[in-house]
Amino acid sequence: MTSLILSPRLEAMAPSATMAVTQKARDLKAQGRDVIALSVGEPDFDTPAHIREAAKRAIDEGETRYTAVDGTTALKAAIARKFSRDHGLDYADDAIMATSGGKFLIFAAMLATLREGDEVIIPAPYWVSYPDIVRLAGGVPVIVETKASEGFVPSAEALEAVITEKTRWLFLNSPNNPTGAVIPKARLAEIGEMLLRHPHVWVLTDDIYEHLSYGEAVTTLPAVVPALKERTLIVNGASKAYAMTGWRLGFGAGPVPLMAAMRKLAGQATSNPSSVTQAAGVAALNGDHGFLDEWRSVFQARRDLVFSKLNDMGLDCPTPGGAFYVFPSCKSVLGRQGPGGEIGTDGDFCLQLLEETGVAAVPGTAFGAPGHFRVSYATDTAALETSMDRLAQFVTGLG
Ligand SMILES: Cc1ncc(COP(=O)(O)O)c(C=O)c1O
Repeated sequence: MTSLILSPRLEAMAPSATMAVTQKARDLKAQGRDVIALSVGEPDFDTPAHIREAAKRAIDEGETRYTAVDGTTALKAAIARKFSRDHGLDYADDAIMATSGGKFLIFAAMLATLREGDEVIIPAPYWVSYPDIVRLAGGVPVIVETKASEGFVPSAEALEAVITEKTRWLFLNSPNNPTGAVIPKARLAEIGEMLLRHPHVWVLTDDIYEHLSYGEAVTTLPAVVPALKERTLIVNGASKAYAMTGWRLGFGAGPVPLMAAMRKLAGQATSNPSSVTQAAGVAALNGDHGFLDEWRSVFQARRDLVFSKLNDMGLDCPTPGGAFYVFPSCKSVLGRQGPGGEIGTDGDFCLQLLEETGVAAVPGTAFGAPGHFRVSYATDTAALETSMDRLAQFVTGLG
């Protein structure tokens, strides 16, 4: 018997569908099995040296105290320069905020704005945390499926069809986790034009993978349709572009009243992001970005390898334009017999794949897209080649 009572909001959260695979991978590794994790959501590169050095200097120079909740003056200036440099968007100091990770920006925005029952439109496949953050804040996620045949890019018509008077937010994420899809500029323009007809709908654009794009440069909604700047929150962070997942640095920009509300919330929750991390963030944003060219070409070569091998095996996927994920369909093997029994779902597929071959991938159900699975290619090329060989053998051996 326990006297612990959980809040209804926590009870309403779905248990993470990625947990079963992650736990299984851990168990197998502990048993000494050779596990290749294609399930990770972080670059396998080290944080660049000039960023690490800035953090060491900050520690030695005593930058170890509380800072302003929303970031140091130097960091906010670096963030402002970044938005101006990359997208021609000008934000004043009070329209900018740094947080402990990009995830907290989303959390703060939802908690600061949603009333019970408010609706948030989320195109699927989506990043696992979106619906649960919305639900935790009392909102209702409204899921709009995108199609593999359309490159998993949402259409303005499909999004408009679910707008109601209760809609508060539309989430956009490009390049996308888990599909790698990039929303082309022309499509962003269509979505933006559509939104001009619905002035009560705000936009959260999650641009955290913006620097990892292998085709057309990634742009962001308020740069394409400037009238939407007054109701758009840009979510970004250092995790993916600078290989800084463990440092926890997110940054965002948006309308001043929204940012003030989020700042108030952060002030009673996390306070400022780590002062040392902020110093590293200044070096990251203001420093040389030349390393990104090399990272992009390594990622692109791996993407091409994984993408073509998966399609050769009959695990179809559209070419992802960015991030470090591919999102193949496993529908062609559903109903077949694996060594562990019938493969009825993407979850069965990933579990049996892991048990039989030691290759860990994440079931599509976790991202709102059953019948698919996510492969991360943020791992070295030799391991990718081995894992693709094991996957091919596994698929060929199914009864
Ligand atoms: C689409 C997307 N948004 C936001 C985040 C949050 O990143 P962080 O909290 O590390 O800044 C992630 C991390 O995986 C992500 O994939």
